[in-house]
Amino acid sequence: MLYVDNAATSWPKPPGVVEAMVHFMEKVGANPGRSAHHLSVEAGRIVYNAREAVAELLNAPDPMRVVFGYNATEALNLALRGLLRPGNHVVTSSMEHNSVMRPLRALERQGVGVTVVRCSPQGFLDPPDVETAIKPNSKMIVLNHASNVVGTILPIAEVGEISRRYNLLLLVDAAQTAGAYPIDVEADKIDLLAFTGHKSLLGPMGIGGLYIGERVKLREFEPLKRGGTGSRSELEEQPDFLPDMCESGTPNVVGIAGLLAGVRFVLERGVDEIRRHEVELTQRLIEGLSAIPGVTVHGGHGAQRQTATISFNIKGLSPSEVGLRLDEEYGILCRVGLHCAPAAHKTIGTFPAGTVRFGLGVFNTLEEVETALEAIRQLAQEA
Ligand SMILES: Cc1ncc(COP(=O)(O)O)c(C=O)c1O
Repeated sequence: MLYVDNAATSWPKPPGVVEAMVHFMEKVGANPGRSAHHLSVEAGRIVYNAREAVAELLNAPDPMRVVFGYNATEALNLALRGLLRPGNHVVTSSMEHNSVMRPLRALERQGVGVTVVRCSPQGFLDPPDVETAIKPNSKMIVLNHASNVVGTILPIAEVGEISRRYNLLLLVDAAQTAGAYPIDVEADKIDLLAFTGHKSLLGPMGIGGLYIGERVKLREFEPLKRGGTGSRSELEEQPDFLPDMCESGTPNVVGIAGLLAGVRFVLERGVDEIRRHEVELTQRLIEGLSAIPGVTVHGGHGAQRQTATISFNIKGLSPSEVGLRLDEEYGILCRVGLHCAPAAHKTIGTFPAGTVRFGLGVFNTLEEVETALEAIRQLAQEA
């Protein structure tokens, strides 16, 4: 079996992730930040260590500004619904995932202005187009760091400069890049960053979060939920400090323990080394696919300007036919269709049928890429 669906969820996980989760369940198991006994303290330590590890990965100065939640979708909803009000305007791109588009469309119905800047058919965004879209009532720019359809990396640092010049907040959806591509929230002038644990951070599903930078005014921030936090329990009002303000209810510490082990693996191997490996695989896959008659590779400009997510189509075969045959005849597991990003497919010209998507990961090898290429060669020949 060959798993190339890492852009949906990474698999397998590195050594230590399952063990950390089992260790928590068997040996710790208590509620963090609630009780004073030693197991509760130990659970709290795991949660803090995970905040610290994520902060280190993002070069975020304060781990307490890393807020945990369910996934990137929840984090994006928290940032968008927490900060945008009727009358505000937001700029985004046409390469966004529905976890940005759907909350924005709902906010639009409530009176938030939304401008979607069109990207090129390769999925690239021209920063001056973002600047042109800014209005006097603009409050935020929200941008995918890398497309989950064609992997193209968006110019976050340039947009960060623009956002500061106009005193806007920059929210980055790093679902596809955290752990796979270098991120520096300070250098790139990122104010809010949504991450998910189950992709390149190599942790389990059900854990993700939001980094909330210093420029975000907490007085203006509405949490998605309110409730018990284990802090300021004498008050009936929600605490007004991070992370408690945005973390009500018992957290997923099993997931956080797994996330901590995943992020530690990433830190130990090094994002630069992971990136080097994934660029090598991506380069070979793009080169091999491009040489097969009848295969169209979407996106463009090469492996250096994208993540290890590659979309293609085979002439004469629908993406779903390709996906099914790869699974049943070759044991190759990928993802086909629209990848929850219809706007991105409209941008690159593959809507509504979509594409076949290979999401390579840290544990894939060049030999596996060759195996996948041979399978595509055979399918294309028969089509
Ligand atoms: C670009 C992008 N944003 C957001 C998400 C949502 O992530 P999650 O499903 O973990 O909430 C994904 C997941 O596929 C994604 O690829």
